[in-house]
Amino acid sequence: MLATIYILFLAGAQSGIFNDVGKIRTFTVAVVGVGGVGSVTAEMLTRCGIGKLLLFDYDKVELANMNRLFFQPHQAGLSKVEAAEHTLRNINPDVSFETHNYNITTMENFTHFMDRISQGGLEEGKPVDLVLSCVDNFEARMAINTACNELGQIWMESGVSENAVSGHIQLIIPGETACFACAPPLVVAANIDEKTLKREGVCAASLPTTMGVVAGLLVQNVLKYLLKFGTVSYYLGYNAMQDFFPSMAMKANPQCNDRHCRRQQEEYKKKEVEQPKVEVVEEEEEVVHEDNEWGIELVSEVTDAELQAASGTVPDLPEGITVAYTIPAEVTSGDTVEETEQSLEDLMAQMRKL
Ligand SMILES: *[C@@H]1O[C@H](CO)[C@@H](O)[C@H](O)[C@H]1NC(C)=O
Ligand SMILES: *[C@@H]1O[C@H](CO)[C@@H](O)[C@H](O)[C@H]1NC(C)=O
Ligand SMILES: [Zn+2]
Repeated sequence: MLATIYILFLAGAQSGIFNDVGKIRTFTVAVVGVGGVGSVTAEMLTRCGIGKLLLFDYDKVELANMNRLFFQPHQAGLSKVEAAEHTLRNINPDVSFETHNYNITTMENFTHFMDRISQGGLEEGKPVDLVLSCVDNFEARMAINTACNELGQIWMESGVSENAVSGHIQLIIPGETACFACAPPLVVAANIDEKTLKREGVCAASLPTTMGVVAGLLVQNVLKYLLKFGTVSYYLGYNAMQDFFPSMAMKANPQCNDRHCRRQQEEYKKKEVEQPKVEVVEEEEEVVHEDNEWGIELVSEVTDAELQAASGTVPDLPEGITVAYTIPAEVTSGDTVEETEQSLEDLMAQMRKL
């Protein structure tokens, strides 16, 4: 069983991307919200061989949601966490599961939620390594934000817009990056409707494609963060209409309304002073491509011939445009904000221009 599970990882390990892939077994991740994004997220982590998963959701599987991935019609009526645990255990019995079928925003359950986040690690009494927010409403996001600020728990947020054509992921390190009380949650401007954070009772469109993309981006970031490879994204948006992936980072706000956020900021500042930043020496990436007549830069190890075979005729791209998973250079240069001292309005205006 394990041999099968690790095949993809080991292929990666041989190419020198990962240091210690087996380490994935030592981590615990809490997934809050086991719907369109959360269920796929949990399945990916299960197949990667995560050590322990905690699943939180109050909802039941509904036949009306079968346009989404993961759940099956025969599971209709079961609680999402129960149905998910059953499926995931079958996929990989080596993962430990802990499920909670409740609404984290009620006072009693919130206390229990905090307790499990801080005690429910692989070794009981230790905190989880990461909390993933895969919920679809503002109240639940704020509950996670409050809990994580108080505990100093690193977490990642994910969201899909109501019109189903954009989404985002965001890494929140209490005291260091902006929490949900520091700044309004960021969404990708889809040039249609920016209201990503669904309110109770609003009927939303849903696409398994967008949810799958966002779950994939989220778990990719989780693996990069836990296994320490590549660049971990602070904020990565996805706009399906233009295939635009804006990324940025935003510092915590000293005037944040959440006192635990302000306390974490003080602690972070103290830590920064005690441990002066180690100069990060960036290793020069080996160039895997040669210049070609189209000005196409390959980021993957795909040869020009393979690329042509895969995509038919290579489009006549303007100079400087790259293919294979990167944002076009034109977009990167002017319209993506790396470090924002900039206001959210400026950022949104920039995104809208596209
Ligand atoms: C969850 O609990 C909150 C707070 O009691 C309540 O406002 C909300 O309606 C509940 N959600 C559901 C779906 O029961
Ligand atoms: C969750 O809340 C419900 C009702 O508010 C309560 O009956 C239940 O015991 C709570 N569960 C936990 C584990 O706190
Ligand atoms: Zn804050």
